[in-house]
Amino acid sequence: MPEPYYKQHWIDIDADRQGAYDQILAFHPAMEPLLKPIELKSGMQVLDVGSGPGHTTLELARRVGDAGEVTGVDINAEFVARSTRRAKEAKVNAKFVNHAFPPLPFPDGSFDRVFCKNVLEYVDSAGETIVEMARVARRGGIVVAVDSDWEMLALDIGEAHRDLTDRVLAASKSIAIKEPRIGRRLYGLFLAAGLAAVKAEVMCGADVAGRSLPMLRSSLARYARDSGRVSAEEIARWLGAIDVAIRERKFFFVLPQFVVRGTRE
Ligand SMILES: C[S@@+](CC[C@H](N)C(=O)[O-])C[C@H]1O[C@@H](n2cnc3c(N)ncnc32)[C@H](O)[C@@H]1O
Repeated sequence: MPEPYYKQHWIDIDADRQGAYDQILAFHPAMEPLLKPIELKSGMQVLDVGSGPGHTTLELARRVGDAGEVTGVDINAEFVARSTRRAKEAKVNAKFVNHAFPPLPFPDGSFDRVFCKNVLEYVDSAGETIVEMARVARRGGIVVAVDSDWEMLALDIGEAHRDLTDRVLAASKSIAIKEPRIGRRLYGLFLAAGLAAVKAEVMCGADVAGRSLPMLRSSLARYARDSGRVSAEEIARWLGAIDVAIRERKFFFVLPQFVVRGTRE
């Protein structure tokens, strides 16, 4: 593997996982509060840093309308190809660039708004990426990052599975995430990047219906298996226990989202 796992697992995404990300990263009305701090207006130029399958990018593009444009940038070539097709089908102004960051491949002051959701835990340097996000924002432009704090993840599928759950989650984080504490670090990193009027909020809903199952199955379980710290039999047992917990209404999952915004002076 030429790159560390936390990066390579985004470069290589097989067809199954591509499909899973369409579920995991679909836009949902419950995500509306995550977009509010960007204060989008018609006609704006927006950058979506780590745009993935592009579902959120298209949502941003709908809000800036025909006079505006959203640019997505992502390390995964297939995400870029698929989101380019989706933008064309949806008839919105969005274009996509295949590039690994940091650095970001845009001149200083190119965008009115810079948005980045659930990406900064995977990059070589979250601090340098936020400095780049500030650089490509125009003076007076708003920069927003939304991210999880993986050490605040809470999952209950029953006491009998507590140790296995802890082991699977620890194994997964050990290889797939460069900075599991990114959520709590965002505020300080925004200040360090020289952004002004920095504000942080934490948004957090409980999933008791199993909406997070595609993420647990296609991302966390796979990472744990690839870590070699948990056997295939244990992963299968864990996923089986999750299915039972969802059916028996004993499933409880929380992953707080830190939403931080700052202004480029
Ligand atoms: C969890 S997904 C989030 C996608 C999108 N922001 C969303 O919320 O729907 C993380 C995205 O970051 C991209 N990514 C991770 N590390 C990257 C890097 N170093 N350079 C560019 N993109 C990266 C991945 O390819 C993936 O699309």
